[in-house]
Amino acid sequence: MPPELEQSSHERLLTLLCDMPKAELHIHIEGSLEPELIFALAQRNGVSLAYPSVGALRAAYAFSDLQSFLDIYYAGASVLLHEADFYEMAMAYFRRAAADHVVHAELFFDPQTHTERGVPIEVVVNGLVRACEAAEAEFGITSLLILCFLRHLSEEAAFDTLDQALPSIEAHRDRLVGVGLDSSERGHPPEKFARVYARCRELGLRLVAHAGEEGPPAYIWSALDVLKVERIDHGVRCVEDPALVARLAAERVPLTVCPLSNVKLRVFDTLAQHNLARLLELGLCATVNSDDPAYFGGYINQNFVATFEALPALTAAHAYTLARNSFEASFASTTQKTRWMHALDAHFAQG
Ligand code: HPA
Ligand code: ZN
Repeated sequence: MPPELEQSSHERLLTLLCDMPKAELHIHIEGSLEPELIFALAQRNGVSLAYPSVGALRAAYAFSDLQSFLDIYYAGASVLLHEADFYEMAMAYFRRAAADHVVHAELFFDPQTHTERGVPIEVVVNGLVRACEAAEAEFGITSLLILCFLRHLSEEAAFDTLDQALPSIEAHRDRLVGVGLDSSERGHPPEKFARVYARCRELGLRLVAHAGEEGPPAYIWSALDVLKVERIDHGVRCVEDPALVARLAAERVPLTVCPLSNVKLRVFDTLAQHNLARLLELGLCATVNSDDPAYFGGYINQNFVATFEALPALTAAHAYTLARNSFEASFASTTQKTRWMHALDAHFAQG
């Protein structure tokens, strides 16, 4: 091949990141709502927005912390009213995920953001389940759903949401497999939700929680010890506590890390300062995810590419580890995980 057509090793690494099969485990489906779709749904549903145009809305995406993002994120979600709206939102995500070689996705959704506006939980779940089924048929992506409780609301409100969700959980046992905890972290420690998580555990649901994004390592400890979660969403602040790092590594508790989100919400000032490489060096089961891709400047492959460009310590071996971790950390069956890991090995063997 003439030298000008040869890919440099750096370009080969970027191609590998984009083309390797991967799972996405930390994506808030309402955070995949692009401004264009927000405006189209607002018009269709007669919802008025505080922003006059797509450009004005996008211009407002300059966040100083988690709360400044959440205010706009909840305003964006206010256009979702009907089953078709949830279906379209999720299908738009799956289309992009398929292009990024995501073979499996576990989607968070925030029912309280919708039930508070009078949208029944069944409407939300039915739209999302229909999209999950269509995504498997159209793109070959498998998917699961995780219901998140908003931690700025009370535990009583979470119990109420769980009650409302029970018929949907019953009807879609193999799809709606778990619960999570999101929204404003500071001042809302995991233990605030101890009883509702215990109830979810009794119901056989899988458990995850956001912890250690803006909140201290103590929130990661209590997510593990009080809520008994199986994965930590974000968790990047664990490095402040060596005993916690040792525990997470020994138990292989996965961390669903979201690099572009962390920079947009000022958890790290720049991607070059992100601790992803450090988390891997420490032997932690870290994964790369997009969090709220419509708001944070990129879907999963943009997270991989931007982070590897910013952190030269990251190599093809790390790319392999991150993709493998994403399968290991998923809530799919062991058979499915093994199949994906073989496909990943084959991909790296050819590359
Ligand atoms: N953190 C907490 N809550 C959220 C987030 C996040 O990054 N995205 C959507 N809800
Ligand atoms: Zn999140």
